[in-house]
Amino acid sequence: MKSHLDLRACFVGFTTLVFACLSATTIAAQTSQVFRLDGGKSTYAFGVNERGELQTLYWGGRLLTQDKIPRALSLKEWASFDSSYSNTPQEYSGWGAGLFTEPALKVTFADGNRDLVLHFVNATPNGAQSLEILLKDISREVYVTLCYSMDSETGILARSASIENREKQAILLEQVAAAQWALPPSRYSLSYLTGRWAGEWTLNQEPIHPGARVIESRRGSTGHQANPWFAISRDSSQKVVGPITADEEHGEVWFGALAWSGSWRISVEQTQLDWVRVTGGFNPFDFGYKLNSGEHLETPVFYGGYSNHGLGGASRLLHRFELAHVLPHAPDPKPRPVLYNSWEATEFNVDEAGQMALAEKAASIGVDRFVMDDGWFGQRKNDHAGLGDWYVNPRKFPHGLKPLIDKVHALGMDFGLWVEPEMVNPDSDLYRKHPDWVLNFPGRPRSEQRNQLVLNLARSDVRDYVEGFLDKLLTENDIAFLKWDYNRNWSEPGWDQVPPDEQRRVYVEYIRNLYTILADLRKKHPKIEIESCSGGGGRVDLGILRFADEVWTSDNTDPFDRLTIQDGFTYAYTPQIMMAWVTDSPHWLNGRTTSLTYRMLSSMQGSLGIGANLNHWTAEDFATAKGLTAAYHAMQPTIVRGNLYRLISPRNNSPFSSTETVSRDENQAVVFAFTHSTQEGRGFPLLQLQGLNPDAEYKLTWIAGKAEGETPNTASGAWWMNHGLQLDLRGDFQAAAFRLDRQR
Ligand code: GLA
Repeated sequence: MKSHLDLRACFVGFTTLVFACLSATTIAAQTSQVFRLDGGKSTYAFGVNERGELQTLYWGGRLLTQDKIPRALSLKEWASFDSSYSNTPQEYSGWGAGLFTEPALKVTFADGNRDLVLHFVNATPNGAQSLEILLKDISREVYVTLCYSMDSETGILARSASIENREKQAILLEQVAAAQWALPPSRYSLSYLTGRWAGEWTLNQEPIHPGARVIESRRGSTGHQANPWFAISRDSSQKVVGPITADEEHGEVWFGALAWSGSWRISVEQTQLDWVRVTGGFNPFDFGYKLNSGEHLETPVFYGGYSNHGLGGASRLLHRFELAHVLPHAPDPKPRPVLYNSWEATEFNVDEAGQMALAEKAASIGVDRFVMDDGWFGQRKNDHAGLGDWYVNPRKFPHGLKPLIDKVHALGMDFGLWVEPEMVNPDSDLYRKHPDWVLNFPGRPRSEQRNQLVLNLARSDVRDYVEGFLDKLLTENDIAFLKWDYNRNWSEPGWDQVPPDEQRRVYVEYIRNLYTILADLRKKHPKIEIESCSGGGGRVDLGILRFADEVWTSDNTDPFDRLTIQDGFTYAYTPQIMMAWVTDSPHWLNGRTTSLTYRMLSSMQGSLGIGANLNHWTAEDFATAKGLTAAYHAMQPTIVRGNLYRLISPRNNSPFSSTETVSRDENQAVVFAFTHSTQEGRGFPLLQLQGLNPDAEYKLTWIAGKAEGETPNTASGAWWMNHGLQLDLRGDFQAAAFRLDRQR
């Protein structure tokens, strides 16, 4: 059958993907019915079974070119209770024909029919690295185009789907996944990230049991509570009973990340026949996308990858992929400028003189960028008023922003500004003028959180307003950076300007318009850089990261809490985007007292920022921060772009933690080490480094701290990795850092 579908539609969502080395990816139709993608160290294969369904065949370590993958044969029914259709792992299953597992697509037709069975129609290669598969319902005019694109370097596969309605009447899409992944029966454990405000990025690990573990957001945005990332580790111990554990540096790991900043869901399901199936895409909760005749809906991209070097290997692949293919300016996004942010120093009390004084002090440390946070606009004195009124407050800045920006430039820094474009306070001129612009159900209460409501960005007039004021702000002022905040989740998500049966499209159209605004602004102002913030790390995902250069990791800047937060973050995201500020001690959240060196080293594991009240700093503090900022600048490319090894995890109340990053060329390594508290005189565990060239000589330079005993200044990679070194690090909240530089 010939397809009339516009297949180009499939790739709209990830046009920024550029593949560095095309020749190493191969996509082959082994026979007309088996398709195979090879990239990096992995192979992915699927085929058409005897019924015409698209069936997963293999996902794992790279096979040899001459290895033939057997054709797809459906799995048998299990007695009379589990049908063959349900047991067979499909690449993209329709809900119909007795499917008891999670469907990829669930549809209601205009006549009430809800049965959907998707069969293979044809396959179209799209260049050397992409493949499109067309599926169609067995009788109705519903078409699904599946897009596959494999990165030659990391083997990470980008998958998405486009659903097209060629029926004469509208259909209702009730559940739409981006992709489904399947692994054959074995003993597996699942890793996933959860959290809350000021406590994001907790790594959870548990055995996979029969039934489903659902990780999701129903909040209209990515959320702090769970992040759209998963990793599945195979138990390599050959045990058939006993605990199942995920290993940091060994064993097979399959991982995935969903590129969507709205409500999302990933379900990890162990079926009756012990297969593990992962289904991810739009969250079906309260979902209902009316697809009119002739329309199509594109899903987000669901990325998946494989490593046989444990969770560490998996995260190194993801980091590399994000830098090379996802972030703005990929494949070479520049390391983040070291920034100063005024929020914890001044909160809403910003004014020209106060900001200028802070800017002078920040410049003396060696900071590259000065960012003014909340409080500069409208009638903003606290969080009760002003959001929506994006004019410069004339009392705080009588001459506009220009004198401050000029001063910041004269001090050798560029200038950044906080905005929260998608929100409005009821106490604002904007809300008084346009009360209908917020998400709401008419006649029902409008629940406020932080005294604010969410503008309905799905509306084109609201989208135009938001894009318009940001464009004006960037045109009229020399602004290098926006901290784009988003400080609440949705409630009462009504959109009463469209017919009732189209109102739930808000879950898709809002996020689409958000992406459009970001893309348009970046196009019109190519030098602008953007941070995605949502009360900390509430909007971090591979969708927003196509438009955001960095993210605010957490509002929790306690340097000890940050060790665990940052550890969890790096399982899914590169340290390049992980903003980490040094703030005041005792810390406002836990009342914990730590040294400035400890705070600096904790933040130097990611992209460094200073967020302290510099008006309270001593000359000694400035000297310490200046020295460490200079050391950071010299090592930053290695820290944010290198291969990360989490040597000792801070999780589970560990008294110690340590990370190591090795530059891609193996010429430099940077190591950080921290104590929580030492007890009974026990010293820091032996540090055996990883990822160095065993035959090269490396010279040791201390950034802070020292070793116990006689540690050589120069030794081979083999020495540092096998013999290792013993840090002299004892007591509560102590920190050390050193670098190794290759001599030959
Ligand atoms: C959020 C951000 C903070 C700060 C405040 C300002 O909470 O995460 O860093 O910008 O808003 O209101």
